Amino acid sequence: MSVKMQNILLLGAGGRECTLAWKLKNSPLCAHLFIAPGNAGTSQYGTNLPIAVTDFNAIKEACLSLNIDILLPGPEDPLVAGIYDFIKNDPQLQHIVVAGPSKEGAQLEGSKAFSKRFMERHNIPTAAYREFTADNYAEGEAYLKTCPTPIVLKADGLAAGKGVVIAQTTTEALDAFKAMIQDRQFGDASSKVVIEQFLDGIELSVFVLTDGTHYVLLPEAKDYKRIGEGDTGLNTGGMGAISPVPFADAAFMQQVKERIIDPTVNGLRAENITYQGFIFFGLIKVNGEPYVIEYNCRMGDPETEVVIPRLENDLVALLLLMHEGKLHEATVTHSPQAAGAVMLVAGGYPGSYAKGSIMTGMKQVTDSMLFHAGTTTRGNDIVTNGGRVLAITSLGADIKAALAKSYQNASLIHYDGMYYRRDIGWEF
Ligand code: AMP
Ligand code: GLY
Repeated sequence: MSVKMQNILLLGAGGRECTLAWKLKNSPLCAHLFIAPGNAGTSQYGTNLPIAVTDFNAIKEACLSLNIDILLPGPEDPLVAGIYDFIKNDPQLQHIVVAGPSKEGAQLEGSKAFSKRFMERHNIPTAAYREFTADNYAEGEAYLKTCPTPIVLKADGLAAGKGVVIAQTTTEALDAFKAMIQDRQFGDASSKVVIEQFLDGIELSVFVLTDGTHYVLLPEAKDYKRIGEGDTGLNTGGMGAISPVPFADAAFMQQVKERIIDPTVNGLRAENITYQGFIFFGLIKVNGEPYVIEYNCRMGDPETEVVIPRLENDLVALLLLMHEGKLHEATVTHSPQAAGAVMLVAGGYPGSYAKGSIMTGMKQVTDSMLFHAGTTTRGNDIVTNGGRVLAITSLGADIKAALAKSYQNASLIHYDGMYYRRDIGWEF
């Protein structure tokens, strides 16, 4: 049976979206690809549209005028804001395949308290926790004074990756608690705070695509969040990534499936939470066993830049099977090659940084893939347009070989203030 070719609208503007655009465009099932708003890299694979990812009315207009068949939201904001329900409740749009959860399902990422309660109901291993608001503030303070340190405080809602504090002392914990609830540091996002036990272990990211009943497992990855070499300095959106993860062996991944992925997918279905899309499990391995640190309702960035190049399947075909509830019919294959991505960033990032620096050398790159993050075009030039600028992904026999290619190619690229970590994958 022949499948109709699909018009696809991808939402987002980062390295994740550039990677997804590359992958979607390589599918024989892709007719036209549009990216809103996209960047200089995504325009190689499709047509960029000047539409913000949360401008649902403009997205509706684009879906109608461009005859969109599949909508893939890259970042969490449109999902948490309910793009799925918006499409499915509109008779003109409801035929569109949306690769992402309902607003309720997106609460797995949009509310830390929601996700902790979900894990508790389904016996999914995670750090012990309590939740507090202004209503039981004094109780929260008293509780914090009894907690061993370090202790973790999390703003309940989306806080652009900044809502987590690992307090080393009780005083620091009390200050962070006050800042979040009384001083409304993250506005409504921190009107509720989750306080949870500190878990000491090594982190990794695991991804599935689910149709709500079945799922396929994508390659796992590890990202490097700190700005400085040796995992020092401020947190960033991610300075690089590797896949596969050497410590995620078959026995460990079996535990991840049985204790975490299966109960999550089954739990969503049992609770009638509509979820067809990616689930990102932020995990930590403690004494050999997996725990959930967080759920995200989308792919990771920069993990996508190593996960998707190792996925050998046609992504459009997988999204269509997802829509039909038939992902059990898919056989997913992961490339035996390893992938390593190095992120080039702007000088000063994650603090303030300049935009608009001319980028050179990209045409000299061979044997690596360049996934644009913060870039745009100015006349005939490609210029920087964000903190994270460009991911250089390479495949190789092992992580070291892959990263050696990425580093070789990084040395060919130039823009004012260019910085990158030279130790991605250093521990393997
Ligand atoms: P989250 O936004 O929940 O992913 O948290 C951001 C980062 O904080 C995680 O990637 C971890 O490095 C760290 N973190 C969060 N929760 C914990 C925890 N319970 N124990 C140790 N580290 C944590
Ligand atoms: N790399 C972590 C994230 O995408 O949230």
